Amino acid sequence: MRPAPARAIPLSSPYVDEREEELVLDVLRSGRLSLGPAIDRFEELFAERVGAPYAAAVSSGTAGLHLLTVCAGIQPGDEVITTPFSFVSSANCAIYEGATPVFADIDPRTFNLDPAAVEAAITPRTRAIVAVDIFGYPCEIEPLRALAQRYELTLIEDACEALGAEYRGRSLGSLGPSAVFAFYPNKQITTGEGGMVTTHSEKEWRVLRSLRNQGRADAGGWLDHIRLGFNYRLDDLRAALGIAQLEKLDRILELRGAAAARYGEWLDGVEGVELPLADDVDHRRSWFVYVVKLAAEVDRERVIAELEAGGVATSRYLPSIHLQAYMRERYGFREGLCPVSEDTSRRTLALPFFTGIEPPDQERVVEALIDAIR
Ligand SMILES: Cc1ncc(COP(=O)(O)O)c(C=O)c1O
Repeated sequence: MRPAPARAIPLSSPYVDEREEELVLDVLRSGRLSLGPAIDRFEELFAERVGAPYAAAVSSGTAGLHLLTVCAGIQPGDEVITTPFSFVSSANCAIYEGATPVFADIDPRTFNLDPAAVEAAITPRTRAIVAVDIFGYPCEIEPLRALAQRYELTLIEDACEALGAEYRGRSLGSLGPSAVFAFYPNKQITTGEGGMVTTHSEKEWRVLRSLRNQGRADAGGWLDHIRLGFNYRLDDLRAALGIAQLEKLDRILELRGAAAARYGEWLDGVEGVELPLADDVDHRRSWFVYVVKLAAEVDRERVIAELEAGGVATSRYLPSIHLQAYMRERYGFREGLCPVSEDTSRRTLALPFFTGIEPPDQERVVEALIDAIR
């Protein structure tokens, strides 16, 4: 008789309990399913938590990034410098407004934008930099901000993967550049779909609220529209989910930190596997995913197939954006444009990682990975 197949270990899984059910039910019973008080409350709590004066809830991280490019006045013909080693939204937000994404290469240690590469990519057409805190590791905010000031560019921070991370002892979102956080179910906290933009400008906050709400003004009728807007609203059901998730954020960050520490301990010294970069005085990661980098001679596809056969889900985090089919077709980008990102893309592998992952499952992942690499 064949042995029973091993129980599958997923790549990610949300962390919700009765509290989320309770708050969502309250909204359902209140009859105010959208544009109600749960949104304002979620925004206030979120702003307070990250230490930003203003926060605007939106329907996704992508929507938040799009709105910040609108706020930055990005227009057709402009160039926006960003990282190729990210999820596509951080580049797409420029394209939505007719601008051209310009990819600067990453630092091989942090996987985040290399400020020197950003500076080298600046042209008279550059209008903005979209910097990403990839895998929850803070990007070089201060050098990037200095560049943005010197060349009069807007700096947008894509912190979609980094709620809870700190740069130079300060929470992301509290540092000045307008930042976007995302709440898809694999993120630190989830609203199903959803996002939040933090800003230090009351004026920008009011524009964001108008843009997400079909261009309506704060005061004015339902059918009065003062600008071209979008329906990028978060509804109250999702806001309620977000409030319940925020209540347990400390616990979530603690559990994720402990899970990452276990992987770190058990994978330490395994030949062919490079571990995620450790924190230092300037950078404190918020654990979003657990991504290892395999040695160049390891056959990643074989590793993925063997892990899959053992019931362990993995993912190739992340392909370089400039080599995606639509990017090649539209802009003619080719291999060699960002060699560090491309090499990283070929070798990185995300292991199962989520708030409630149990140590025995992590042990199984580690054993399977070690077996596959041998
Ligand atoms: C770096 C980064 N930017 C943007 C996004 C987009 O967020 P959403 O999926 O909520 O639109 C994500 C989410 O996957 C992300 O990881």
